[in-house]
Amino acid sequence: MTTPLLSLEAASLAYHRGERPAVDEVSFAVERGRNLAIVGESGAGKSSILSLLLGLRSPSAGLVRYDGRALDLRDRALLGAFRRDVQCVFQDPYASLDPRRRVGAIVGEPLRSLGLAGRAERAERVAGALARVDLPSDAASRFPHEFSGGQRQRIAIARAIVSEPRVLLADEPVSALDVTTRVRVVDLLHELLADGDMTLVMVSHDIGVVAELCDETLVLESGRVVERGTTSDVLGAPRDAYTKRLMSAVPRLP
Ligand SMILES: Nc1ncnc2c1ncn2[C@@H]1O[C@H](COP(=O)(O)OP(=O)(O)OP(=O)(O)O)[C@@H](O)[C@H]1O
Ligand SMILES: [Mg+2]
Repeated sequence: MTTPLLSLEAASLAYHRGERPAVDEVSFAVERGRNLAIVGESGAGKSSILSLLLGLRSPSAGLVRYDGRALDLRDRALLGAFRRDVQCVFQDPYASLDPRRRVGAIVGEPLRSLGLAGRAERAERVAGALARVDLPSDAASRFPHEFSGGQRQRIAIARAIVSEPRVLLADEPVSALDVTTRVRVVDLLHELLADGDMTLVMVSHDIGVVAELCDETLVLESGRVVERGTTSDVLGAPRDAYTKRLMSAVPRLP
């Protein structure tokens, strides 16, 4: 058996003492090159799980394991590799890009902060990332406000892939976009995942997007995993009552 790339082992996250944890003894593993969707209603703990997978918070119990090693946020060497390898895209492309910085600086930021490339190489890699997300080459010298929502989300994706991460974590990456733009961004993610090197963990309430991008789906209810399986099984023939309810309540792509 191969070592999973990223896993939670009985991980809990409690924001307040004495309250029921937002993530309650959750265990799952993602194999290299696989794509996992996390679904569940608002407040189920989806973003909280991503904050654990992203190393933004430490679990209050249990652990996060990356490439076989327990993730310890105090271990600087491991954290450095982890920050390079695990990148993320958030829901709101208006809030996630600093309006005062040029797109080139925004996209190149992971390379700069991780010390991965000098100035010249950075510019080259930024241009490469912008080209991969289908933005014009002069985009680097412009500011975020000059771009549409869909373009901004592509800038956020360029920033996430510029360090050539092994894992992309995405929290509702297309929900803020209108339907046509959404299709383009989903197609782009599909392309980026096509060679099978990158692993995606995505939170989405959009079943069409989940079906398009993820081979596996995990269903979360009040911080606990209630169902997990291949996306076609979970979406096509949900076993759990909660999943059934969720499926009948979610919007679908036309
Ligand atoms: N920073 C925080 N401080 C305190 N409580 C929090 C914090 N973030 C989330 N919570 C609580 O944890 C629970 C899970 O929240 P989380 O944001 O993970 O849900 P979600 O599934 O992502 O929901 P949504 O679909 O609305 O984004 C909720 O009860 C929420 O109020
Ligand atoms: Mg959320």
